[in-house]
Amino acid sequence: MDADETTAAGLPALAEEIAEYYGRDGEDGRLRSGAGRLELWRTQDVLRRLLPPAPARVLDVGGGSGVHAQWLAADGYAVELVDPVPLHIARAARLPGVTARLGDARALDAPDASADVVLLLGPLYHLPERADRVRALTEAHRVLRPGGLIVAATINRFAGVHDNLATGLYFDPGLRPQIEASARDGRMRPVDGEKSLFTTAYFHGPADVPGEFAAAGLTAQGQYGVEGAAWLMGGISERLDDPGDRELVLEALRRTESVPSLLGVSGHLLTAGRKG
Ligand SMILES: C[S@@+](CC[C@H](N)C(=O)[O-])C[C@H]1O[C@@H](n2cnc3c(N)ncnc32)[C@H](O)[C@@H]1O
Repeated sequence: MDADETTAAGLPALAEEIAEYYGRDGEDGRLRSGAGRLELWRTQDVLRRLLPPAPARVLDVGGGSGVHAQWLAADGYAVELVDPVPLHIARAARLPGVTARLGDARALDAPDASADVVLLLGPLYHLPERADRVRALTEAHRVLRPGGLIVAATINRFAGVHDNLATGLYFDPGLRPQIEASARDGRMRPVDGEKSLFTTAYFHGPADVPGEFAAAGLTAQGQYGVEGAAWLMGGISERLDDPGDRELVLEALRRTESVPSLLGVSGHLLTAGRKG
């Protein structure tokens, strides 16, 4: 199904291959173990510095199974999670302090100016068309109160090349064309069967994100590489197992997180902005 098709209720429909990918239930464990914890702890580290004090109303759009909603609710925020995958909603709805409902970033079922914070930690990299991404950001703008904070995650343009060079998959001639295509135009296109590295996705250049914010009336105020270069280093998972080493990793990444020349090295990028 094309990304711009609509459901019977007139809502934008999630592409079938994205629904199938997340229906495999791999998402909940992804950030809770191994090297995935770097993304979780770094996102948490940046968000804890940016968010207003709790309690504040946080709308977690594309919140998945609630890995971030869980700690945000434990921190005292009133968290509403929206996601188009029923399995994610079922998991998130069981978390204490989290309200979860089905929905799409491009048509939010939330009143105007009803949120202090909107998180978009997923939708922008699953919307290959710029018009859809701007529509999602425009919805975030609508539901934010004046002065409210938005934080959006994107995947960097060369994440596929870097990740697969590090894992060695780049050297598989059957996989390399997908990786090279994503670096050329930002589009990750799934192929049939086991040779698919990811589902439909769009990989941004860091400098493109503020323009998409501006097109939705939002002012970008800062960008933060989530994993920096650390995600590409062998042995990072073992470093995270050790509490002392983990703190050193987090400190080092705090120092480099907004250095312009390093933004694109990170796998994920957070862009923070405000409704003026
Ligand atoms: C990689 S997961 C990230 C989940 C979570 N926010 C996190 O940071 O761990 C991407 C999420 O985006 C959701 N998503 C994809 N397209 C979306 C859309 N059009 N609107 C809202 N969410 C969407 C998926 O269902 C999935 O839960």
